Amino acid sequence: MTALDSARALAGVRVLLGVSGGIAAYKGAELVRRLRDAGAQVRVVLTENAARFVTALTFQALSGHPVRTSLWDESAEAAMGHIELARWADEILIAPASADLIARLAQGHADDLLTTLCLASTAPLALAPAMNQQMWAHAATQANLGLLRARGVRVFGPACGDQACGESGVGRLLEAVEIVAELVRARGPREMAGQRVLGSAGPTFEDIDPVRFIGNRSSGRMGFAIAAAAAQAGAEVTLVAGPVHLATPAGVARVDVRSARQMRDAVFAHVADCDVFVSAAAVGDYRPQAVAAQKMKKTGQALHLSLVQNPDILAEVAALPRRPFVVGFAAETEHVETHARDKLERKHLDLIVANQVGANLGFERDDNALLLLWPDGRKELPRADKRELARALLACIAALRTTHGGNRS
Ligand code: C5P
Repeated sequence: MTALDSARALAGVRVLLGVSGGIAAYKGAELVRRLRDAGAQVRVVLTENAARFVTALTFQALSGHPVRTSLWDESAEAAMGHIELARWADEILIAPASADLIARLAQGHADDLLTTLCLASTAPLALAPAMNQQMWAHAATQANLGLLRARGVRVFGPACGDQACGESGVGRLLEAVEIVAELVRARGPREMAGQRVLGSAGPTFEDIDPVRFIGNRSSGRMGFAIAAAAAQAGAEVTLVAGPVHLATPAGVARVDVRSARQMRDAVFAHVADCDVFVSAAAVGDYRPQAVAAQKMKKTGQALHLSLVQNPDILAEVAALPRRPFVVGFAAETEHVETHARDKLERKHLDLIVANQVGANLGFERDDNALLLLWPDGRKELPRADKRELARALLACIAALRTTHGGNRS
């Protein structure tokens, strides 16, 4: 893979890099650089033995994040606990993976932070082994690797050549660029490469006066997860975000707005260039007819606000003569499927993502359950983390665009 091919090939991918104890641990430092060059976000965990070969500080400086070495670090647990770290990862990559670590993983140990994370995470695991050639060739090591491979663990290398111990043979850690290339290859083709995705996310705020507004409970998490997943799938992504406190996903161009009309303008500034529009924002249907210039005072009387309807951004996009593939959301408190199908037809959408909201469902949560409806089909996505749902939704969009001829422009 050339440097150009690898550029941004891991855009937005969260890589948990585990470094185990061996002389090749120093090469892990170079690997952090190469992973970041490819667009990955990297968090590093050193085993206790790795920390004898290299310092956490080196990895902290290169990754830009604190490095963890122990399960028992109270301050680190308070910041990002090990279970959170296990959930955070899209990929776990261990380089170098020592013979001892491979043995412990094969046996399912959880006797230090790194092995615990491997057990606690659903992220795919990849190992880049490095060890003395006799240790590599030993039947125990090979049997352990056989077990791990059978569980779907990917093994990158090792290479053959001179070893730090003075011997020569199979057991050298692959070069950092080769490990990155293997990881990119293992993740498979990027299904949205070359496509442009425009998304909206979050609530809108409609001002009443300089201090008050009408808003809603949308956290923006679903729309941000979709933008992140689209960028990871290789798309060029623009995200129009209502007022939310969320970090911009890697590789995503963000436009911040406040009101529905600002959101409409931002969407229309970008819609002509996009292949897919995913409208996850909870756009306010109404706004005050007039915004008071000064803070409104109590009068002792009932207050009547006159509201006027906002533009329906989604319906306007769907009505464009040259339109992208249009995906809407339907947050419903009852009769979810009926209301959503009605909205799909009324707004002439290609796909609608329905979900039940209300008591402890949908909004302000990290998980959700979705029902995808399109003119001649449906698919249920059971309760899962919003990041996982976002990936499944994009896979469905990609499949529908292939089978239904995609964009109607
Ligand atoms: O009809 P309803 O507002 O429930 O439709 C929800 C869908 O329509 C969402 O995808 C939302 O982003 C979009 N919408 C919009 N403009 C509005 C209201 C909703 O784009 N004014």
